[in-house]
Amino acid sequence: MKITGKTAVYGIIGYPVKHSLSPLMQTAAFKELSLDAVYVPFEVKPEELKEAVSGLKALSVKGFNITVPHKERVIEHLDFLSEDAEFLGAVNTVKEEEGKLIGYNTDGEGFIRSLKEEGVEVEGKKVLMFGAGGAAKAVGYALLKAGAKFLNVVNRNFQRAKALGELLGKRGNVLIYPLKENTVEVLLKEADVIVNTTSVGMKEGDPYLFDYSKIPKGITVVDIIYNPPETPLLKAAKEKGCKVINGLGMLVHQGAVAFEIWTGKRAPISKMKKVLKEELYGRST
Ligand SMILES: NC(=O)c1ccc[n+]([C@@H]2O[C@H](COP(=O)([O-])OP(=O)(O)OC[C@H]3O[C@@H](n4cnc5c(N)ncnc54)[C@H](OP(=O)(O)O)[C@@H]3O)[C@@H](O)[C@H]2O)c1
Repeated sequence: MKITGKTAVYGIIGYPVKHSLSPLMQTAAFKELSLDAVYVPFEVKPEELKEAVSGLKALSVKGFNITVPHKERVIEHLDFLSEDAEFLGAVNTVKEEEGKLIGYNTDGEGFIRSLKEEGVEVEGKKVLMFGAGGAAKAVGYALLKAGAKFLNVVNRNFQRAKALGELLGKRGNVLIYPLKENTVEVLLKEADVIVNTTSVGMKEGDPYLFDYSKIPKGITVVDIIYNPPETPLLKAAKEKGCKVINGLGMLVHQGAVAFEIWTGKRAPISKMKKVLKEELYGRST
């Protein structure tokens, strides 16, 4: 590509950042729309976050993503926050506007868009969500915002579930439960949609979250893990005739929402998805 004095600079900060797929996805999007822009990874140590953010601001970097471990701590270095970012206390996208830095959180909207893309509407649905970590916060919030009838949250660490329940309870009907086989068995019976936001299923040999033979037939099962593309949870759900959705769509759409915030243009979703599939699975379909 041709870099000139007018080329806009975007990027991502994280520690580590080498594993990030965002440079690949956003670069493909800029190229697809022939935008004069580059997107680069910046590895930023936690103790250097303040300097890094003011450096990005001073250099007029137009926008950047934030990944682990900076999503919460970056907030104190920003000028304004979107409503979602403020509620969640976490930012994954920053836009520079007239010298000010505005923080957004696109994870939740990315999740909902990925469901819509697969024809799944959340409004009025009874949702059972596993996990109470960072991803659960954004996903749970988005589910309630999209009109879920109620959200049952199950987590191994009950204290963590409690904290999440207190936060999300401000936005809708949320009940929390410990990760126990008999409790889950009861909750499964009333779920229209099951969402896994835990990291269980990422690695071969991971334990099962619960007895997957108890998944009700024909419901929707979502796993926000994108690698492997089919976790044991999704495999079992598919065998039960459920509609299954993995985390690739969420990954693409959170990036697409960021792209749209930065450029004001519709993101080239299929191109972004194609490059990710090639990178992750060695195929584009
Ligand atoms: N598709 C996407 O765009 C996207 C975006 C963000 C994250 N993710 C994926 O979401 C997953 C979680 O990310 P995160 O940032 O929320 O991580 P996190 O904050 O570290 O939370 C991890 C969650 O997994 C649970 N967990 C871990 N090991 C477990 C086990 N053996 N049994 C039961 N529960 C277990 C934790 O439970 P405890 O609280 O009990 O420890 C916690 O609820 C990761 O796989 C990540 O790749 C995907």
